[in-house]
Formats: sequence, C-alpha cells, structure tokens
Amino acid sequence: MQTEINWVDLRESARAAMAKAYVPYSKFMVGAAALTEDGRIVSGCNIENASYGLTLCAECSLLSDLFMTGGGRLVAFTCVDGHGNILMPCGRCRQLLFEHSAKGMVLETVSGFKTIDEVIPDAFGPRDLEERK
Ligand code: THU
Repeated sequence: MQTEINWVDLRESARAAMAKAYVPYSKFMVGAAALTEDGRIVSGCNIENASYGLTLCAECSLLSDLFMTGGGRLVAFTCVDGHGNILMPCGRCRQLLFEHSAKGMVLETVSGFKTIDEVIPDAFGPRDLEERK
C-alpha cells in the first residue's frame, strides 16, 4: 500500500503544518498530515494553551481539518517534529486516529511503515460500543 501513497508530499504537508504551530510553552513544534480515502490531504499543527493540559496536539487540528473538508477515513498518516523529522503520535492521538482510520491505514513511524493495528493493538473503538452493550 505504501507504494501507492506519495509519502514525500504527505511529509511536506506535515512540515508546512508544523511551521504554523503555536507552542509558546513547550517550544516543541509538531505537524501532522494524512491522506483520505478520496485523495485529500488534511493536516494540522499543535496549539498550546496557558492552561497546559488543554493543549491540542497536531492530530487534533488534523481531525478538525478532516471534518471541515468533508470527513471520510484516513488511509495514510505522517507526523513531524520541529526539525521535520518523523515523530510518533502520542498514545491519545493513536486512539483519535484509530477512530477515523480506514482498514489497514498506514503510518510512517520512527521504525518504518506500520499499520494502525500495529501502533494501537487491540484498540478499543466504536465496534466495542456496539458489540458489548
Ligand atoms: N504533541 C503533538 O502535537 N502530537 C503528538 O502526538 C505528540 C505531542 C505536542 C503537544 C505539545 O504541544 C508538544 O507536542 C509537547 O508535548
């Protein structure tokens, strides 16, 4: 699947998003980009807050972009730090991504390409809510 995806473009979008990060507290810029099933690239940056715990990760603003541009499922994802190097999404954001992932979604990670199931194994998700009522 990775071969059909333009990872160079996706990484460029993540880097462009990263440049917009609002990080007065951590000074740690993050940018994320994802490809949707219908071929759109959505992206986001982290947006911090004086109440530190309210910080929005780059993945949160990526999901806003996803919904504001038509929704759908994510097939590929990458995330970069302030140097433009690949960064792993935090645990909470893996859960956020899982909710909106297409089957077999691929992530570019610090240890190569991985599927969403590999980065959040046995994830709790919408299906559990249906099947375990
Ligand atoms: N951060 C993200 O934006 N995404 C992640 O997956 C990891 C962490 C941000 C949150 C905070 O603004 C900064 O990185 C330092 O934790």
